Amino acid sequence: NNILYNDEIMVRDNVVEIEDRGYQFGDGVYEVIGVYDGEPLLMDEHMKRLERSAREIRLTLPTEVGQLKEKLQQLVQANGLEEGIIYLQVSRGVSPRWHEFPSKSTKAVTVAYTREEERETALEDNGGTAILAEDIRWLRCDIKTLNLLPNVLAKQNAVENNAIEAILHRGDTVTEASASNVFIVKDGELYTHPADNYILNGITRQKILQLCDELGLKVHEETYTVDDLLNADEVFISATKTDIAPILKVDDKTIGKGTPGNITQQLVKAFRTLYE
Ligand code: PDD
Repeated sequence: NNILYNDEIMVRDNVVEIEDRGYQFGDGVYEVIGVYDGEPLLMDEHMKRLERSAREIRLTLPTEVGQLKEKLQQLVQANGLEEGIIYLQVSRGVSPRWHEFPSKSTKAVTVAYTREEERETALEDNGGTAILAEDIRWLRCDIKTLNLLPNVLAKQNAVENNAIEAILHRGDTVTEASASNVFIVKDGELYTHPADNYILNGITRQKILQLCDELGLKVHEETYTVDDLLNADEVFISATKTDIAPILKVDDKTIGKGTPGNITQQLVKAFRTLYE
């Protein structure tokens, strides 16, 4: 099993430095990229978001993304990965622990590895349940940073309640979920939180918007309330590799008929054509 460590593809070993700022401060950015039949999906979009995240936290990527992309492809090949994900993170480097940025000579540290994951077709076809949780995150959720403690706590809460996700809300407004975006369907039209600082603009989300356009489905990138969510005809979440998962119940409230809805199923089908 190989990893990418800075510019080198090498055997997985203990590469964590105690004073890596990713480890100590969560000071870094990451991406999760889906791999289908040995091919990374939407790689360019993920690389573009990585560049943006890095820029927003004033981190200089040590490798140009075109080159990084090639390395990641080499890694997938070296590991013979067919189905799964690539995890990539770039931290602000290794330096004595002071909160402020380290000296300019400190180079960011890039690490990537792959993980085999079965396709979750059953989840896509049958759906799952979700819980509600207050969104207690900071106000730059648009940056894909390593700081995920609120997300971890929300997801754990979901799992302990036999749910697949925690849908987050700031007061009355639904934002997204602990590790995915949320869409609702009402009277044949879709609603999803706008891509501002309150959500991560998912690559899957963006692709779904494009698919809706192609399918002639109307999407409102507008905020909606917890009440709208609970009274929606359909609810689904979207994220890399999960792709689209119907949500049939939120807390104790059954959504629609309690089965995956028509529009959700249409989108699941359309999304599959991207890699099948
Ligand atoms: N999470 N919102 C949050 C908070 C996320 O963590 C994710 C993805 C998404 C969906 O983004 P995308 O469609 O680009 O995967 C939305 C990844 C998969 C993770 O942290 O494992």
